[in-house]
Amino acid sequence: MLILQKQIKLIQRPTGTPTKEDFEMVNAPIGDISEGEMLVKTVYISVDPYLRGRMNDTKSYIPPFELNQMISSGVVAQVVDSKSSLFEKGDMVLGSLPWQEFTIAKDNTVRKIDHTLAPASAYLSVLGMTGLTAYFGLLDIGKPKEGETVVVSGAAGAVGSIVGQIAKIKGAHVVGIAGSDEKVKFLIDELGFDAAINYKTQDVAEALREACPNGIDVYFENVGGEIADAVFPLLNNFARIPVCGAISSYNNEQVDVGPRVQGYLIKTSSLMQGFTIGNYASRFGEGAKDLATWLTEGKLKYEETITEGFDHTIDAFLDLFKGSNLGKAIVKVAEIEKY
Ligand SMILES: NC(=O)c1ccc[n+]([C@@H]2O[C@H](COP(=O)([O-])OP(=O)(O)OC[C@H]3O[C@@H](n4cnc5c(N)ncnc54)[C@H](OP(=O)(O)O)[C@@H]3O)[C@@H](O)[C@H]2O)c1
Repeated sequence: MLILQKQIKLIQRPTGTPTKEDFEMVNAPIGDISEGEMLVKTVYISVDPYLRGRMNDTKSYIPPFELNQMISSGVVAQVVDSKSSLFEKGDMVLGSLPWQEFTIAKDNTVRKIDHTLAPASAYLSVLGMTGLTAYFGLLDIGKPKEGETVVVSGAAGAVGSIVGQIAKIKGAHVVGIAGSDEKVKFLIDELGFDAAINYKTQDVAEALREACPNGIDVYFENVGGEIADAVFPLLNNFARIPVCGAISSYNNEQVDVGPRVQGYLIKTSSLMQGFTIGNYASRFGEGAKDLATWLTEGKLKYEETITEGFDHTIDAFLDLFKGSNLGKAIVKVAEIEKY
C-alpha cells in the first residue's frame, strides 16, 4: 500500500514579507529505508527568523533553499523503523530535517535526545539552538559583569528571553525591548527583567535613557533598525555589542540605511561583533550543561509558543514577523508514542 505524507516546499522566492503563496503543501509517498537509515516521524518543527534569509538567492553563511524543494530546519522526531544499529524504534532524535511528516534519515545525520531529562521541545528552544545562541553570544562576546547594564532587543523571543535571564544570573541590570505590553509585563513579572520597553508604543530613546541611568554596557542585538539606532548614543566606554540578528530588515527590499555607527564605536572604544551559533559548535556541550543546570536550579525559565498541526507550519513561520510568539516558536506535528 502506498502511504502518502505531506511536505512543504518553497515555490517562489519571497519579495518583502513572505506570504503563503511562496509555499506549497504537497502529498508525496514515504519510501523504504536501507541499511544505516531510519524512518522518523516529525514531532516538533522549529520555525526561525533565519529561514527567511535562506529563502533569498544570496550568498550567506548557509546555502539558500532551492526552489521546489522542501524547507528544512531543526526538527525533533521519533524513530518508527530502523535499519541502524545506533537507533531503535521509539528513540527521540534531533536534526536538521525537511518539513514533512516522515523522513528517511541516515543515522549519522541526527543525534539522540533524552526527553525524560527535559521535554522534547526544549531541545529546539532553551537547550537547543536558540538557548545556545543566547548563551554564547552574551557570555563570549557580551561578557556582562555584575552591576553593568545589559539591553536586549527581541527580548521576549526565543533568544532574547534567555539572554536577559542569563544577564540577570550574572548580576546585571537588565532592560528588554519588545513589541507589546503583554511582552513587557512578561519580561518584568515572569522573567525578572529590571525594566522593559514597548517599542511600538514608547519613544525608545527616551525610555532607554530612563531605564539605563548608568548608560549601556552590553547591547545584545536581535533586531537592528531604529531600535538599535536608539541604543548607540547611550553606550558606555568599552561597551560590547553581540550582533545576533537584525529581524527588522529581513523583509526589506532595499538595503537598510540609518545613522552611521562608527563615531559611537570610536568615541566609546566599543566592540561590535557579529556571530553565528555555528561558530561555537565545538562548545555546545558546555553551554547545554550550564543552561540545564540553571533550569534545574529554577534560575532560568523558558516559554514556548506551540502551534498545533503540520498544516499550520507556514502560519507559525509567518507569525514570527508579526511578533505573535512569546518565547520559542515551535510547531507540534505529532504525539510521542510509547513503544
Ligand atoms: N546569529 C545566530 O546564530 C542566530 C541564531 C538564532 C537566532 N538569531 C537571530 O536572533 C533574532 C531572534 O531570533 P529568535 O529565534 O529568538 O526569534 P524570536 O525573537 O523568538 O521571534 C522573532 C521576534 O522578532 C520580533 N520582530 C519581528 N519583526 C520585527 C521588527 N520589524 N522589528 C523588531 N522586532 C521584530 C517579534 O517580537 P516583537 O513582538 O518584540 O516585535 C518576534 O516575536 C533573529 O534576528 C534571528 O535571526 C541569530
